[in-house]
Amino acid sequence: MQVVILKDTDAVAEYGAQLFIKQLAKKTDAVLGLATGSTPVALYQKLIAANKRGEVSFKDSCSFNLDEYLGLAGDHPQSYRYFMQQQLFDHIDIDAAQTFVPAGDTDNPIAACQDYEDMIREKGGIDIQLLGIGTNGHIGFNEPSSGLMSRTRVKTLAPATISDNARFFSADEEQPHLSITMGIGTILDSRQSVLLATGAAKASAIAATVEGPLTAACPASALQMHPNSVVVIDEEAASKLENTEFYKHVERENQKLKAKLGL
Ligand code: F6R
Repeated sequence: MQVVILKDTDAVAEYGAQLFIKQLAKKTDAVLGLATGSTPVALYQKLIAANKRGEVSFKDSCSFNLDEYLGLAGDHPQSYRYFMQQQLFDHIDIDAAQTFVPAGDTDNPIAACQDYEDMIREKGGIDIQLLGIGTNGHIGFNEPSSGLMSRTRVKTLAPATISDNARFFSADEEQPHLSITMGIGTILDSRQSVLLATGAAKASAIAATVEGPLTAACPASALQMHPNSVVVIDEEAASKLENTEFYKHVERENQKLKAKLGL
């Protein structure tokens, strides 16, 4: 697991955006794994700006989002489909028909989960998966106790997640308690994973992810098993790590090596 500690939210977003831009430069028809929540918004803004400047194109790519609230149709303002349209898809040159988000309004969630897995496989698997992290260590909606080899399925949201996400819902809106989420096994199958976290509220979850044991109690710790995983965090999110100086040293060495190899 590569741990990159940067000074602030903007630097974290820029680092993450560059990984997506490099992926698309290498493979124009890349399969992108995307996330919602507040953390990726700055990264999406950077991708939109780069797309408008002609520095990156999404026209041959496709995307799969991590999760969706069960019970919300895509035109519901709190649905993750709606969020993605507003925050990214409506502003870039991606083919709308090639953007996939689990079907929140399905009559048959079990079949919808299997269909989602099948579609990811048919597209050749996810090349680069963006992740945020919950204060309880969740990735996607894989809450603590989720199976570390789980696939896309219906998950009940943990009370901590419901309270963390209550800020997005107004008093008269009913907040869903169920979701469809890619499983941890689905996420581990991605060829590269990029987890972003900023702010002190994420510091305990990041310490458990990077330096804690591999455990379903912290679903993000499963990324310790990922063959190509990077955790990009700001100083506040890094504040409970013990080996920060080592991670910074490794990153300096990585940058030197990349410069030498012209990567
Ligand atoms: C969203 C998702 C969640 C969020 C996590 C952090 O698609 O999968 O795991 O990444 O809840 O959310 P923020 O970024 O709002 O703190």
